[in-house]
Amino acid sequence: MCGIFGFTGKQDAAPLLLKGLSRLEYRGYDSAGICVVNGNNNFYIGKAVGKVMELRNRTEGVDLAGYTTGIGHTRWATHGGVTTNNCHPHTSSDGRFAVVHNGIIENYSELRTMLQNEGYIFYGETDTEVAAKLFEHLFDEDDFETLKKLTTVIEGAYALVFIDRENPNRLFGAKLGSPLVIGIKGDSCYVSSDYRSLIGTVEEYITLEDGDIFCIENGDYRIVNCEVELVRDKESITEKEQAMELGDFPHFMLKEIHEQGEVLRNVFAGRVDFQEKTIRNNTLDEIVAQGFERIHIIASGTSYHAGYLGKQYLEHLADLPTEVTVSTEFKYGKQFIDRKTLYIFVSQSGETADSLESMKIVNERGGYTFGIVNVPGSSISRLAKSGLFTHAGVEVGVASTKAFTAQIATFLILALAFGQKKDLEYTRFLSILEDMEKIPDRIETLLKTSDRIREVAEKYARYPNFFYLGRSYELPIAMEGSLKLKELTYRHSEAYSSGELKHGSLALIDADFPSIIINGSSPLHGKNCSSVQEVKSRGGKMIGIIASNDQKKDIYDDYLTFEASLPETEVFSEVVILQLFAYHMANALGRDIDKPRNLAKSVTVE
Ligand code: F6R
Repeated sequence: MCGIFGFTGKQDAAPLLLKGLSRLEYRGYDSAGICVVNGNNNFYIGKAVGKVMELRNRTEGVDLAGYTTGIGHTRWATHGGVTTNNCHPHTSSDGRFAVVHNGIIENYSELRTMLQNEGYIFYGETDTEVAAKLFEHLFDEDDFETLKKLTTVIEGAYALVFIDRENPNRLFGAKLGSPLVIGIKGDSCYVSSDYRSLIGTVEEYITLEDGDIFCIENGDYRIVNCEVELVRDKESITEKEQAMELGDFPHFMLKEIHEQGEVLRNVFAGRVDFQEKTIRNNTLDEIVAQGFERIHIIASGTSYHAGYLGKQYLEHLADLPTEVTVSTEFKYGKQFIDRKTLYIFVSQSGETADSLESMKIVNERGGYTFGIVNVPGSSISRLAKSGLFTHAGVEVGVASTKAFTAQIATFLILALAFGQKKDLEYTRFLSILEDMEKIPDRIETLLKTSDRIREVAEKYARYPNFFYLGRSYELPIAMEGSLKLKELTYRHSEAYSSGELKHGSLALIDADFPSIIINGSSPLHGKNCSSVQEVKSRGGKMIGIIASNDQKKDIYDDYLTFEASLPETEVFSEVVILQLFAYHMANALGRDIDKPRNLAKSVTVE
């Protein structure tokens, strides 16, 4: 949802901005721009529709030596079309100030009208251009004081970073709702939407809080919140530069699919004691001891699907009634917040505005919030009363893969932790725990069958529509598989409970509408086989995602297999097959795998 990056120091800013922006590209990639300033108070502004690579091409050959301060932006359009005019940075009418913005200024339309009445002329349609003109309008010879005034006038969510041509060693800005960090190393100072863009560049960073206004100049910085001058704690960057690099893989998505075995070992470490055969973790002990009677899971997209599988685990293994709501609906629905319910917020980025806003409501109304989050220091992880990190590492591909498997593993651990203290039979607990330990190796073995998955994916690549079918534990896997197909291949797909198909949607089935059924060793295997027959007898094609010991392989047109285990753990293998299926089909169709059209990884607007 737009990435912003700024630099001020002794080095030339443009190459640093371009590197930072390419690392932030997952946040939006429909256009990109930079504005840099030199000691003679000259601005250079470069903008390009398309990816950061287009901007890089545009600036190549331009002599930007001595331009040592600058701001950059990579955009996911919210207000105004994808045009060069709407591309950030935006400038004041007098050309003195330039600004980049992530978020939405909700009262921009009133402000624009007011400024137009004052004689300001707009070249584009964005809310950010309003911020640039408004800054000029409010300017009273002091950047910092003007910024304070600006934040009292604009409404909405923002991370704003300005530069001033007359003060060419200065970056200044404000944060409310959208993320922003500051990283400093010697004379070099950076601001960014995501600390991970600074991996390998600085060792420490500061996360700005809502209401913070900052100014960075000549290696020094100040932060003010509500007129109070503050010193915020620094956090260390522990990730290595390789996390941001492809290595031998053609796409980040494939790299991240292959990391899933290792990721799951990290998720289990420190939580599951496979030697002593128990769940052991302070956070889990504390949460279980609270005596919650119900669970409510709130999340969006892939994280919602993980939550939906979490519901199956929590209900089946811990006897806890569990509701799951998409965060986009939670905020505007009627909320019944009570003290006996544990509110779990699931988010890879920890910044999804819909989830974050929903969490604030629960916090304000006294509910207990628990975060299952991948990014340390992110807003959701900070606002949650307690929580668990998913330890999936940096996920660069826009389509979530390893973050999902880490989320479902976390839910399995959580359910077992509750179950261990409740009525879960010890033998069942033990068999799941013993089987869990094998999941990482199983995934690594399964990845070796990628060629067979590719063959089937290529065979079906020409079909425009798909059903993804499953029941119980396998329905959320069908939902996740369907989402992967949509976002990567731009093919239409729908996920359904296999039992539900006969209640209307079966009418769509014909020889050109294939279905994929997730049908492992669950007690519903037989019922799923009946659904396969219903589809087949209407001329539909059926692909089975099935256990290798399945005795009914001949009912499918094609099938992809995994090692049989338990319904609670087979889901991991099933989802990996579906990730690869979508990946290979997208590859066959020549899609932009790591940056599918129209999307952004971190959705920081509502
Ligand atoms: C799909 C995907 C999205 C996210 C959703 C929520 O591959 O990644 O559906 O799951 O935008 O994002 P987070 O998990 O960051 O809250």
